[in-house]
Amino acid sequence: MNKFHVLTLFPEMIENGCNTSILGRAAEAGHISVEAVNIRDFTRDKHKKVDDYPYGGGAGMVMQAEPIYLAYQHIEEKMEKKPRVIYVTPQGKVFHQEMAKEFAKEEELVFLCGHYEGVDERVLEEIVTDYVSIGDYVLTGGELPAMVMIDAISRLVPGVLNNGESAEYESFENGMLEYPQYTRPPEFLGRKVPEVLLSGHHAKIEEWRKEQSYRRTKERRPDLLIK
Ligand code: ADE
Repeated sequence: MNKFHVLTLFPEMIENGCNTSILGRAAEAGHISVEAVNIRDFTRDKHKKVDDYPYGGGAGMVMQAEPIYLAYQHIEEKMEKKPRVIYVTPQGKVFHQEMAKEFAKEEELVFLCGHYEGVDERVLEEIVTDYVSIGDYVLTGGELPAMVMIDAISRLVPGVLNNGESAEYESFENGMLEYPQYTRPPEFLGRKVPEVLLSGHHAKIEEWRKEQSYRRTKERRPDLLIK
């Protein structure tokens, strides 16, 4: 069971995104739980303000430390040990499959989603354990990256995928991209399914798939082979 807690200004984004398809089913079955915590509920400002101008000037607004800290305390109080707190930011380490595996071992994880121009550094120093990016591009907020990571981590939690094998043979699990897949019909727009797959010869099929995996990786992601 993995419990994900997401500190965000847009809880409905997280709730909608994580309640459908495989993640929704996994939550219903009790394999995971996703809780969105609205940072705005923890501001003491009478106008519910959660951001302010940056000290030193400059464009944009900065999320204030206190509402984030109080939202964090509200969930941390109920936990037995201090959780890992992931701040999703383009300034973090780039997320990859091995990181997903490592996070899947944690019983509880907290994600902090930033918005505007950033977050007051002092609350990050106080609560964040991991700075993680989903790639070298900039999004408008941390909700999509948090959902990307929750999805990648959840499918590694036992019971989430119903076919016990399907996580094992996917792309990246063996350091290479997955081999091509085919289903009926045997011919589509003149393109035939490779004969070996119809042969019923399991050893040959296995060998063909390995070779295809290698070829595909070499062509599309040669950087993976160098690693
Ligand atoms: N917030 C904005 N852009 C991001 C990215 N690429 N990864 C993680 N968090 C982000």
